Amino acid sequence: MQMEQLVALCKRRGFLFPSSEIYGGLNGFWDYGPLGVLLKRNVRDAWWHDMVLAHNELVLQNGAPGLYEMTGIDCTIIMHPQIWKCSGHYDLFHDYMVDCRESKKRYRYDHVKGRNATWQGKTVFVTTMETENTQDALEQAALKFFGLRKKDAPNLTWEGMVTPISQLADFSNVLGPDAKTVGTLTEPREFNLMFKTVIGALGGEEDTSFLRPETAQGIFVNFKNVCDSTRVKIPFGIAQIGKSFRNEITPRNFTFRSREFEQMEIEFFCHPSESEKWYRYWRDRRFRWYTGLGLAGDRLRLRDHDKDELSHYSCGTADVEYQYPFLPEGEFGELEGIAHRGDFDLRSHMEGKLVRAGDGLTLELDADGQPRHRGSGKDLSYYDEVTRERFIPHVIEPSAGADRGTLAFLCEAYHVDQVPNDKGEPTERVSLKFHPRLAPIKAAVFPLVKKDGMPELATELYGELKRHFSVFYDDKGAVGRRYRRQDEIGTPYCVTVDGQTRQDGTVTVRDRDTLEQWRVKKDDLTAELRERLS
Ligand code: GAP
Repeated sequence: MQMEQLVALCKRRGFLFPSSEIYGGLNGFWDYGPLGVLLKRNVRDAWWHDMVLAHNELVLQNGAPGLYEMTGIDCTIIMHPQIWKCSGHYDLFHDYMVDCRESKKRYRYDHVKGRNATWQGKTVFVTTMETENTQDALEQAALKFFGLRKKDAPNLTWEGMVTPISQLADFSNVLGPDAKTVGTLTEPREFNLMFKTVIGALGGEEDTSFLRPETAQGIFVNFKNVCDSTRVKIPFGIAQIGKSFRNEITPRNFTFRSREFEQMEIEFFCHPSESEKWYRYWRDRRFRWYTGLGLAGDRLRLRDHDKDELSHYSCGTADVEYQYPFLPEGEFGELEGIAHRGDFDLRSHMEGKLVRAGDGLTLELDADGQPRHRGSGKDLSYYDEVTRERFIPHVIEPSAGADRGTLAFLCEAYHVDQVPNDKGEPTERVSLKFHPRLAPIKAAVFPLVKKDGMPELATELYGELKRHFSVFYDDKGAVGRRYRRQDEIGTPYCVTVDGQTRQDGTVTVRDRDTLEQWRVKKDDLTAELRERLS
């Protein structure tokens, strides 16, 4: 599937629009349209239902099978700035970027890559940000630089492999992705990804705060409140769904890397001696969640991080990854990370910012031997009344992106096949084969024709179904075309009221994927659809 086709469908049918489009758009920001909002809500609801409300997995606890508890929280986007100092985001949450002095554009250092191109003895390292057709983009850049035409391309000489500029000793012979002259890229510099904001009217430096770059910290700083107010017993999880913000240097690939996005995070608190077991449990459970909703096959994988990839807090991380179609052949993109965070976060919010020292963590000190960032000083340990033990829980964190999930479900659902039209001729059909739980519209209701009492019966049926599901009414055009319109937005069932309905009270139900059609008594339709959609 070509990504452009999916992007075009999303715009045309109202799944996703570029934010602020009438003003030219805003890079890294996306709006969900009428169908997109339903799809993303279904993704979030499925997650919340399966992870928080309805989880019923018995696990061995103290030798006996038991259910662990899951609870929820909804924290503010702007929190006390000290939180980001202790969490490490203030000092460590940055990317390296390079600026182009000529084009005035800024690029992520690790995203610019290129290759040496030679024409008539002159060699230049041409670069691009393109991931899908890298060599094509480099060729275009080289032709433009040397003032050549497409027909000259075979006479260019290429040297070496495509290489990130981070592997070059200097940039003096590098042509920036949007530059006309060489040597205009600056040395890489650090750039913090948190969006700054100012609280209150005075606006001094001490009033500066940040839009949260992850929802997780709101859970950690409320750990004690949740324990005290709910009396949950370890092991237990706190879940949160909400917006996060990162000032990504190069947002791209549709919603995959946005500046405003939504996360679905769980912080699961357990006894340190059991944390490895729970890490493996969540790693596998979260992978199964995606396969259960249709992301099966070799486009989905679970990958353990190498030691040098781990975040500053993590003693083990695995990613659920999906082979998004905009990535180069064989490459996967992160959909969710499952991290073993140890006691890093609770300890940081107690004591102050921690750093690694050997295999352990220690308080980071400044030049005067004082804590670099002070913690809250509050006791965030847990007391186990049964074992009479006090300890700082370890944390397993399954952290999913609602937008990346929605995008993966959209990519996986996109299908093109041949089906017969009204005259029985094979025609190309585009359909979104969503899992029924995720489909934005569950059923469409059609009167076969706009006469003989059919619209009245269909409207009545539509009103009845609407009480239970998201349904759509359509009476425009031939039935075959109405089917296509529903296939293209992923509606699993179409229900047609026809001449026979008035005689025997039955309607035709048609399945999006098998194209099978059958008759059902209209009074039994709600139950039938409910059964099939679950
Ligand atoms: N609390 C841990 C944490 O935030 P992360 O790997 O940085 O970990 C978790 O983010 C998930 O959030 C990612 O797997 C991804 O699905 C989503 N995510 C992160 N940055 C994103 C961005 N710029 N645009 C869209 N989704 C993003």
